[in-house]
Amino acid sequence: MESFLSKPLIIAHRGFRAKYPENTLAAFRAAEDAGAPALELDVTLTRDRRLVVIHDDTVDRTTDGNGLVADFALEELKRLDAGAWFDPRFAGERIPTLAEVFDAVGEDIGINIEIKGGAFEPDFPPDAVERQVTRLISERDARRRVLVSSFEREALIRVRELDARCRIGVLTADPVTEDDLALCRRLDAFSLNPDHRNVDKAGMDRLRGAGFRVFPYTVNDPIEIERLLSLGADGVITDDPAAALQFHEKPERI
Ligand code: G3P
Ligand code: CA
Repeated sequence: MESFLSKPLIIAHRGFRAKYPENTLAAFRAAEDAGAPALELDVTLTRDRRLVVIHDDTVDRTTDGNGLVADFALEELKRLDAGAWFDPRFAGERIPTLAEVFDAVGEDIGINIEIKGGAFEPDFPPDAVERQVTRLISERDARRRVLVSSFEREALIRVRELDARCRIGVLTADPVTEDDLALCRRLDAFSLNPDHRNVDKAGMDRLRGAGFRVFPYTVNDPIEIERLLSLGADGVITDDPAAALQFHEKPERI
């Protein structure tokens, strides 16, 4: 699809996180309704080995429950309310599975699946998170619209071994190093997604000169979005896709 190639690509971080409870179907549908060409979401595993969409290792911040996600079976997680903490209007929202997000949004919207480090398992079991994610992408015939990212390098190496063709985005929280570039080359990565605070002109030129797209995260300030795009960023990961799209569509100031 075109969304990963259109420029700039506005990626809705955890859905329309500025105005909806993050990583819920409400947030993803709202981002889509706002015109976001792509969503970002976080994936981890439940106790019974199901792929669920939640950012933190625990359910404490974003639901009415307590405890580690990995200690809950999917059925138990589904009893938790994932919306009321944000606003009572969203009471009844649930933690979605990754498959449910695919079912909830249109087939043209891009999906940036971030595999959380907590789901990485050194022993690489038969139902490891990387195997389940690549299987789902294949079953959904979704390579054209998915970007798989992670801060966990070994997870990305596995993803590439499992799927020679899916798009990979290397995440880094630190200033970009030669090691990061080497990993991008090894993985034949689609993009490098840096913390926006670490992006300067020299770094941008180096990444783009090496052939990698750059999607900085998480950028909500219009002035900062303008700085990144003017440096050559291919898009931004933002909590407020509506504001970013409005800003992007605004005519040049005189
Ligand atoms: O993918 C970019 C961004 O989501 C990474 O940080 O902590 O929001 O998952 P975090
Ligand atoms: Ca994320």
